[in-house]
Amino acid sequence: MFYDKLVRPLLFQHDSEEIHDRVLSMLRRVGNTPVLSALVRSAHTVHDKRLEQKLFDLTFANPVGLAAGMDKAGLALRGFESLGFGFLEMGGITAMKQDGNPKPRIFRLPEDEALINRMGFNNPGAEEVAYRLGRARRPGVPLGINIGKSKIVPVDDLEAVVADYCYTFLKLYDYGDFFVINPSSPNTPGLRSLQKREALKALLEGIQRQNLKAPRRPHERPKPILVKIAPDLTVEEIDDILTVINEVGIDGIVATNTTTSRDGLKTNGEVAKEVGGLSGKPLRRQSLEIVKHIHKQFPSLPIIGVGGIFSAEDAWDKIAAGASLVQVYTGFIYEGPGLPRRINKGLLKFMECDGVKSIGDLNISVNRS
Ligand SMILES: Cc1cc2nc3c(=O)[nH]c(=O)nc-3n(C[C@H](O)[C@H](O)[C@H](O)COP(=O)(O)O)c2cc1C
Repeated sequence: MFYDKLVRPLLFQHDSEEIHDRVLSMLRRVGNTPVLSALVRSAHTVHDKRLEQKLFDLTFANPVGLAAGMDKAGLALRGFESLGFGFLEMGGITAMKQDGNPKPRIFRLPEDEALINRMGFNNPGAEEVAYRLGRARRPGVPLGINIGKSKIVPVDDLEAVVADYCYTFLKLYDYGDFFVINPSSPNTPGLRSLQKREALKALLEGIQRQNLKAPRRPHERPKPILVKIAPDLTVEEIDDILTVINEVGIDGIVATNTTTSRDGLKTNGEVAKEVGGLSGKPLRRQSLEIVKHIHKQFPSLPIIGVGGIFSAEDAWDKIAAGASLVQVYTGFIYEGPGLPRRINKGLLKFMECDGVKSIGDLNISVNRS
């Protein structure tokens, strides 16, 4: 209420990226000030064992995560953690430092409760990010690292593409609890062609080869690797991806990234025509259908459901459709910092109504190791 009526209208008067940067530095300060972060944490975190689950041998205290793109360089991870997220995904990171596309490159569509972005993987590059993560305190929740392709590497030079992703993976290997390979951003020219069967197989095999070779302690498993897919794929293309995932032995899937579709928008005028990926409420159904399809085809595959989650009901729908975990980005912008708590509280209510004892019981077919 307070956020809807007072804070959001004020924030929405300013440029999206400027507000984003200010919020990030505020959360960074929160994360670096123990008393403050303890206060914020106690106001936002829902402690309830029924929300806890094991996946990829990691413990997720609750299923609500921060989606990639919000904290690209991992600047405010502990601040985000204090807002009650059960896990975080930072990035996308590329091997080379990139400025991204010219500004403005994020646009709000309030009538649709949506965003269009064409950031273009702006990030400090793998080496700088590794240096910073090495000096920072680790967040207390599982951390995923999202990896993209450097723009300069031609997408049709598959060997160079694989080397580019592998470089980032190995640079950041020690800092991620799991890794998300991203061939699905609409904002790097040609990137989405890497979702095609042969290219994807070469990319994922390359990453897994490095993953299996990487030095690790006895009994430590290789890093969990997930793939993030676009919502604009055909059913046949999704099935091809699932075949590759099965063949290569990939641990899970993140569904979905932003859409290039503009179907059904209420917003008319120039902003709806901006080039980039659309996120938020208009994406909700499309992502949900994809989660459903993946779970039906491959019931043991862990799914992180993302796209248009603004409420506990949206999150519940994704989990009921087969997602083990969910993530938010645009919902967080529109609903404010209380969203993870509201979702977690709401999930507990739905569980009580349906007699569900533990969130993991909803998808018992999923492979958890
Ligand atoms: C400004 C912005 C930047 C994003 N950057 C990335 C990114 O770097 N890597 C990625 O995999 N997804 C990125 N995403 C996509 C989100 O992680 C998410 O998949 C998508 O926005 C759908 O979720 P939502 O409807 O909750 O926003 C970005 C989204 C936005 C709005």
